Amino acid sequence: MSTTGSPNIVRSLVHIDGEEHKSLRALTQSWFMPNSILKLEDRIRSLARAMVAKLQQHNGKVIDFSGAFASQYPLHVIMDILGVPQEDFPRILALTYEMFGSEDEEYTRDTVRQGDASSATGNALLSVVDDFREYFESLNEARRKDPRNDVATLLANAVINGQPIDDVTRLGYYVIIAAAGHHTVSSSTSVAMWALCRFMELLPQLQANRSLIPHFIDECLRFASPVHHFMRTATADTNIRGRKIRKGDWLMLCYGSANRDEEVFPSPFTFNIDRRPNPHIAFGVGGHVCLGRHLAHMEMRILFDELIPRLQRAELVGEIEYMESNFVCGPKHLPVRCMLQ
Ligand code: HEM
Repeated sequence: MSTTGSPNIVRSLVHIDGEEHKSLRALTQSWFMPNSILKLEDRIRSLARAMVAKLQQHNGKVIDFSGAFASQYPLHVIMDILGVPQEDFPRILALTYEMFGSEDEEYTRDTVRQGDASSATGNALLSVVDDFREYFESLNEARRKDPRNDVATLLANAVINGQPIDDVTRLGYYVIIAAAGHHTVSSSTSVAMWALCRFMELLPQLQANRSLIPHFIDECLRFASPVHHFMRTATADTNIRGRKIRKGDWLMLCYGSANRDEEVFPSPFTFNIDRRPNPHIAFGVGGHVCLGRHLAHMEMRILFDELIPRLQRAELVGEIEYMESNFVCGPKHLPVRCMLQ
């Protein structure tokens, strides 16, 4: 597979502008709006309870919270919405790690490591996207024959202005939902657990006042900023704080850096759930603002709503380890010991 000259390995919503972007986004938007996700609340809560019960089974034992727990719950939520059967979850999880962790030795594919570092990473990514394509072509076929109430059925049968959407764009749509739809949430969930271990006063504070949980989630999102950057192309000459930007220039939006802007966030490196407001931009801004932001926030809120009242103690028993990547990443290993009642 090649990208036929495009700098992008997949063509997804984030790479498309104007009317085409609006129509494509509108295809699935209704699934992710607050009213629709409210209908999923019971199902999501039962998945959150299952995760809390699993944590309780490991009471007092050293666990890798990121690898064994945080990665599973959001995966389950988004795979259910997409329509991926449970036996395929591990495959999608592995592909996601290989895609976002293509620069991390723990996840990169050795079989395609050839040439210099950047072409080896490019080869690895192309081969991962090929595997995503193979998987989603078959899911697509299945949903055309046997439609269900899921996002895969919507994408498999999508028509815009009387034309079916092309295969490359459909693949990009599947990949962004399947990969960004869980890895980001699991990274932020790991940061939340790290914060509970690191700042001892947090747990009793949240237990005494559960209405603080949404603010805790926002501060975790600000701290985690699991999407590190996206690129933008200037559509007109402009000036940002005295810096000339010419039409066509590429700009790198660094969300983690913006979320530590000391002009917006006093003591930006302090974890503080009392920020009111907390105008973080972990989900981006503008026309491309994250499609899954309400879902992501709700998933985390429900999980910590279930966990906080039962968690008696959480302690770090080693170093937090981050995935090596400059794009979408967060903690890959978080050794902790928890005690739940
Ligand atoms: C903590 C969780 C998440 C974070 C921090 C996050 C972050 C982001 C960011 C920064 C963008 C780019 C926004 C911009 O360019 O201004 C984005 C776009 C997107 N996200 Fe998320 N995301 C998360 C969860 C999800 C979930 C659960 C889904 C599932 C549907 C999702 C689907 C998307 C899609 C489809 C786009 C592209 C939107 C467009 O270009 O129109 N994300 N996300």
